[in-house]
Amino acid sequence: MNTNKNYLEWKKQSDPDKGFAVRGTLVEHAAKKGFNAIIDEYVYIYPENIERTFRLLPLAWESFKGVGVDLGGGVGCVAATIARKPEVEKIYCVEFTKEVVELCQSIVKQVVLPGKEDKVVSVLGDFDNLELADGSIDFAIDWDSLHHSYDVIKTLRECHRVLKPSGRLIMVDRVHNNNTPESELERRRTIVYDKEFLRRNYLDENIVLTRKDLGEHEWRFREWESFFSAAGFKVLDTIIIKTDTEDNRAIKNDKNLVEILTNYNLGGFGSRKVGYILEAL
Ligand SMILES: C[S@@+](CC[C@H](N)C(=O)[O-])C[C@H]1O[C@@H](n2cnc3c(N)ncnc32)[C@H](O)[C@@H]1O
Repeated sequence: MNTNKNYLEWKKQSDPDKGFAVRGTLVEHAAKKGFNAIIDEYVYIYPENIERTFRLLPLAWESFKGVGVDLGGGVGCVAATIARKPEVEKIYCVEFTKEVVELCQSIVKQVVLPGKEDKVVSVLGDFDNLELADGSIDFAIDWDSLHHSYDVIKTLRECHRVLKPSGRLIMVDRVHNNNTPESELERRRTIVYDKEFLRRNYLDENIVLTRKDLGEHEWRFREWESFFSAAGFKVLDTIIIKTDTEDNRAIKNDKNLVEILTNYNLGGFGSRKVGYILEAL
């Protein structure tokens, strides 16, 4: 631990893509404006609705007890929300982007977890290298981060290593239908961000950035499921959660999964997510 810093630093293994610099620039501006700007510009969802979302996933909220790890924890809002539960001892919030850890996590912890900020341990690091002992962690969380992994099986195996037997990974992330053709996934990867996006991210409006440049990967149900089994996880439950919009009502999943519509914004691309409850075998 660095004694003059309020976060731990763990060795990074992955190479940074352009997304890390973009996120760094964004939070350099947002952090100066305070908590609400950090949420509005980075997380898009406030603690109350994060908790409501987890409570919509059978088995999720009850899984949060003891010691946890948040994989790609961003500004720490998800971890701090979960850490409000008395049964949660602490959560290691592992985030790759230095500015996000350094400038935002303490602001977020002070607002979401006043007086108990220490329950969320900020870590500047890589979800591919968790400096935690084998079988030492009760639960893990992913909120919109694992689709940024360049080797999901490796990331999941590292998570599996630190989880206790039967420990759970609760994921709220992106997914595509199984019938989505490769050509459509490639189209999405190469979408060029518009000027409005660049402005919102405090970037030069004339640069060309694709979704792929920012580390966005596009996985269907079947790819996620093959990653889970390769890494030693069993799926206990799957559910679709979507913000109630015309588009989201029209799109149906092709796995016959229950879909829940929310009257609040879930954030992220399309405001629709898959919730997976996974158990380490
Ligand atoms: C879409 S954001 C979600 C952040 C947070 N979970 C939330 O909901 O606010 C994805 C996050 O994953 C982080 N990330 C990407 N690759 C990572 C890695 N290898 N290790 C740790 N964090 C990573 C990014 O820097 C970013 O903050």
